[in-house]
Parts: sequence; C-alpha cells; structure tokens
Amino acid sequence: MIDLLIERGHVVLPGLTIKTNVGVKDGKIFSIGSSSEQAERRINAEGKIVMPGGIDPHTHFETTFMGETAKETWDKGTVAAAIGGTTMIIDHVFQDKGKSLMDKIKQRISRANKLSAVDFSVHGVFLDFTEPDKVMAEMKEIVNYGIPSFKEFMIYRKEGWYVDDWELLMVLKGAKEYGAIVDVHAENAFIGESWQQQCLKEGKIGLEYHSVAKPNFVEVEAIERCLSIAEFAGARVYIVHMSAKEGVEIVGNARKKGSPAYAETCPHYLMFTEDVFKTPRGVYYICSPPMRKKEDVEALWRGLADGRVSCVGSDHAAYTAEQKESHSATFADVPNGFPGVEALVPIIYSEGVGKGRLSLQRFVEVVSTNAAKVFGIYPRKGVIAPGSDADICIIDPKKKKSLNAADLHMGTDLSIYEGIELTGAPTMTIFRGKVIVEDEEYVRTLGEAEFVKGKIEDNLIRTV
Ligand code: URP
Ligand code: ZN
Ligand code: ZN
Repeated sequence: MIDLLIERGHVVLPGLTIKTNVGVKDGKIFSIGSSSEQAERRINAEGKIVMPGGIDPHTHFETTFMGETAKETWDKGTVAAAIGGTTMIIDHVFQDKGKSLMDKIKQRISRANKLSAVDFSVHGVFLDFTEPDKVMAEMKEIVNYGIPSFKEFMIYRKEGWYVDDWELLMVLKGAKEYGAIVDVHAENAFIGESWQQQCLKEGKIGLEYHSVAKPNFVEVEAIERCLSIAEFAGARVYIVHMSAKEGVEIVGNARKKGSPAYAETCPHYLMFTEDVFKTPRGVYYICSPPMRKKEDVEALWRGLADGRVSCVGSDHAAYTAEQKESHSATFADVPNGFPGVEALVPIIYSEGVGKGRLSLQRFVEVVSTNAAKVFGIYPRKGVIAPGSDADICIIDPKKKKSLNAADLHMGTDLSIYEGIELTGAPTMTIFRGKVIVEDEEYVRTLGEAEFVKGKIEDNLIRTV
C-alpha cells in the first residue's frame, strides 16, 4: 500500500513530459507510470501539470534592512510559499559584525525548524573581514555543515553590507577551496551611490530617479568585474537578481568559455519596466537593481529560454505598504524590496509557458531543477524521480488567478502584482508526500519541514 497515487497528470520529468501516474510512499517518490498500486489516497490530475515543487533560491524572511524589519514571520512566509507551489526556499543569514556567522546560522535553522511549512536552507553572508583567517575557517565549517553558498554585496555601503573587491576575492577563493558558490549582488557602489547623492543634492528626489542613479552600467560594470575576479579565483559565481540586458550577454559569454558562471533573474524584472516608478504606487516597486526598459525585459526572457539565465528567484522582502510609504521622502530612503515568494511559480508559469516564452520543460528547470543543482540539493529536490522527496506542485493550466494583495497570503498588505490576472496556477501542493495545500489553503501543522543540507556536485551543476 502506498500513500498517494497522483493519476493521469502531465508529469514533467527530466527531458520529457508524459501523461502518467506518480506514486508516493513514506515521503518519497515511489513509482512513475504504475497504476497497479493500492493507495491510501488517489488524486485525479487529469488535465493538470504535475511538476517538482518550486525552489525559491532567494528570499529574505525576517530581515532588517534600511531601517525596517519585514513584518512577516517565517511561518507566514513559508505558508505563502507553499500556497504558491514552492516547497523549498533558500533564505539569507547575515553575520553580525564581530560575531560568528555559523552560530547565527544555527540559531536561524533552529527557529525555522519550528515554524517552517516548507524545507529550507540559507546562504551565509559574511560582513566582517577584519580577521581573514577566521572567515576562511568559518566558511569551511559552514560548507561542511551543508551550506555551500554565500552571498556578498558589491553595494550598500551605508547599510554595512558592502564588500570591496579584495574581500570578494577572499570569499571566491574560499568557495573554490571548499566547493561552494558565491551569489553576488552586482552593482558598482561608488558610481551608484554617488549618483544617488548627486540626484538628491540637485533636488531630484522623485522615485523615477532611482533608475536614473543606477543605470544599466552600474550593474553591468559590477557583473563584469565580479566575473573577472571569479575567473581569476577559479570559483563558481551566481549573479543574483540580474535585471540588465547586457548581463545576459556577459554571463552567456562567460558560460560559453566554460566558466562556472550562473545568473538568476526575478519575476518583477520579467514583468515591469522603470515606468512603474512614475505610477502612484511607484514606492512599492523600489528595489535594486531597478526595473529597466522593455528591451531588458525581452532580453531576460530570451536568456531564460536559451539557458544563459539559469534560475528565477523571488527576492522576497515582505515590507508593508506603511513601511514603504513612511520612507518615501526621497527615492533613496525607501527600503529596497517587496513580497514575492507566493507569486514566483504562478507568474513564471502564466507569463512564461502561457505566453509561449518558455517551454514547460524549461519552466520547471528555471523555477525548480536548476536551483537544486546549483545549490547542491539535487536529486533529493527539483525532480520527480524514484527516491526523490515527494515535493510536488500540481498546476491547473486553465485556472484564473488574481495576484491582488487581498487574495495572497504573505505577511504584508501590498502586492506589486495588484490587478494582474494570470491563467494557469497551482491547485495543490504536496510536500514530502503529504498534501499541504488544497484550494489555496494550508492544511497541515507547521514544523514538519526541515533544513536540507547541500553539497554541490560538479557533474550536476555543469548541466545547468
Ligand atoms: O532590492 C532588493 N533586492 N532588496 C533585497 C535585498 C537584496 O539586495 O537582495
Ligand atoms: Zn541583492
Ligand atoms: Zn535579495
């Protein structure tokens, strides 16, 4: 007797999609194609898409940034992720200067173990490089603990997140030595932040100056520099939240040369242009790098489809409307970021597959499989295969879904997707063999999820 039999769905497998059955037992995929098992529960997936659950490689739950702590808590955020068809998230843990990053990671994992609706891991963020030997020793310890990724920021000096090129090289060299990958927020701090100051001095304080102060060049120069440092270090590098069209070319060329370079973009860069900053709700859209032009949006979709861009992450940071509005005196004061974890899979399905920009197969790669390979959790996650965790998202390609704040479940009252209607959306989420979301409702108790250890395998990440 097995636990679940998902019948007659269009099952997205590596390299092909077939109409078949998926059997689940003890939290794992048990069988593909068999109809003979006795099952405790049968799910009719006729006309639906059956895919591995989404993996969001970029969230910021419970993070304090630019004077605001997102009001949402880990439980709410991960329930929203599950409702959106995502069954694993990778969050960020920032070192407190002078303190151990490993200790903070352990505290975060222990809190998340009690609260999480979906499995999780984190990226470590080193902020203190005063004792380089300590950084290297901790890095090794963190990788051995099962966390093979670190995020570093080439901007945000005032916020204390900035690393200089020497520090970035240090982390990249550590990543090379210990088998990790470095996620990089690529923006030139000196040009971007000085340009912001110049705008402010000239009285150019409106939201539209956010993209004036950070034109494509600010991102592009940093991507080029970071790839060049990574190449020198021989390290894997992952450009996060890429928004500039030139980035697609640059990362694509590095990959062509055989460099282990990867890029992520986000749903908002695939949906919006800088025009959003001129709308009455513009303050909600402030993020870095900024939204850009139509040609950037089109280039990102092309890069996603042809393999130059590997993953989509939400960059979820769930500020409320009041939190954004109360810092809107100038464009430079607004806390960067907005909620998105619940929208990731629905948006990329509807705008990608629904509008013919991505094949179904490629969609699954960019919202699930590739992140699993890049961050070393494949094939436990990111694939429907016997022995893998039974993390499954069932999508109804005909379902209409609104992304208005009132219809979403994230711990905030704003949606940057207000008024947008999607066609095709998740109807059920199965997590380690249990149905956790049905009819947009989370139906389990929290705390069943856990920290997933990762180890990057060269032969797998090379296939991304
Ligand atoms: O604007 C953004 N991206 N906010 C979140 C923090 C970050 O840089 O990832
Ligand atoms: Zn960032
Ligand atoms: Zn981020």
